[in-house]
Amino acid sequence: MTLDLSRLRAETPGVANRIHLNNAGAALMPDPVIAAIKDHIDLEAAIGGYEAKDQEAARIEGVYDSIARLIGASREEIALVENATVGWDLVFYAFDFEPGDRILTARAEYAANYIAYLQVAKRTGAVIEAIPDDGDGVLDPAALEAMIDDRVKLISITWIPTNGGLVNPAAEVGRIARARGVPYLLDACQAVGQMPVDVDALGCDFLSATGRKFLRGPRGTGFLYVRRAALAGLEPPMIDHFGATWTGPESYTLRDDARRFET
Ligand SMILES: Cc1ncc(COP(=O)(O)O)c(C=O)c1O
Repeated sequence: MTLDLSRLRAETPGVANRIHLNNAGAALMPDPVIAAIKDHIDLEAAIGGYEAKDQEAARIEGVYDSIARLIGASREEIALVENATVGWDLVFYAFDFEPGDRILTARAEYAANYIAYLQVAKRTGAVIEAIPDDGDGVLDPAALEAMIDDRVKLISITWIPTNGGLVNPAAEVGRIARARGVPYLLDACQAVGQMPVDVDALGCDFLSATGRKFLRGPRGTGFLYVRRAALAGLEPPMIDHFGATWTGPESYTLRDDARRFET
């Protein structure tokens, strides 16, 4: 895709005052994004929050379609969450790890994810193992293949780590995960919006991404992709009466789409 740089610059007010290179942190927002946020706040101030949500329901629902289109998924496989971290955590903590279960990750893993591995390892006795790299930091798929046995409960890697420009072979990892029947969680925060993303080509079961980087949205936005086939039997670690229906004094039923991970 060819980008129209002058148009992009013209609709990005921040470029008038500074050279901002921290897009891997949070990109400068363009006018359409800024207007959508401000207009919605104004609408809430004018008519109330619930009423504004009802009035804008079609546009809000449209976000599920546009994200699904962006990553080659269906809208039932998308949950909108507070940020990428929340989406990632909700899936990771949904796994029922037991002593000796192996979590395979990349050597260049996002620090927040690694801290969650450490907590789960401490609580459950699961073990964390880093997949060797090729010497330049890139995950080595052959080394991953050799590590897999029936104690591997999850492969969880970051596609493009936060610092340094490394790109891990996410689709190669997906091919191995699928062939060996191991669930695969992919942190795609630095990839979505920066490079083409197709969840089928990637072979991931779960993918988390943020709004604030290469999608140029606001901070405090993110989404989670959950492959339809991976949803069955996966219970979010926290639920409410949005993700589930209270069906009787002692019972509830989870939503049958990825929005069971929303509150
Ligand atoms: C690889 C990676 N994962 C997750 C995040 C966190 O994103 P969010 O603030 O939306 O939770 C970042 C942000 O720096 C990131 O680089």
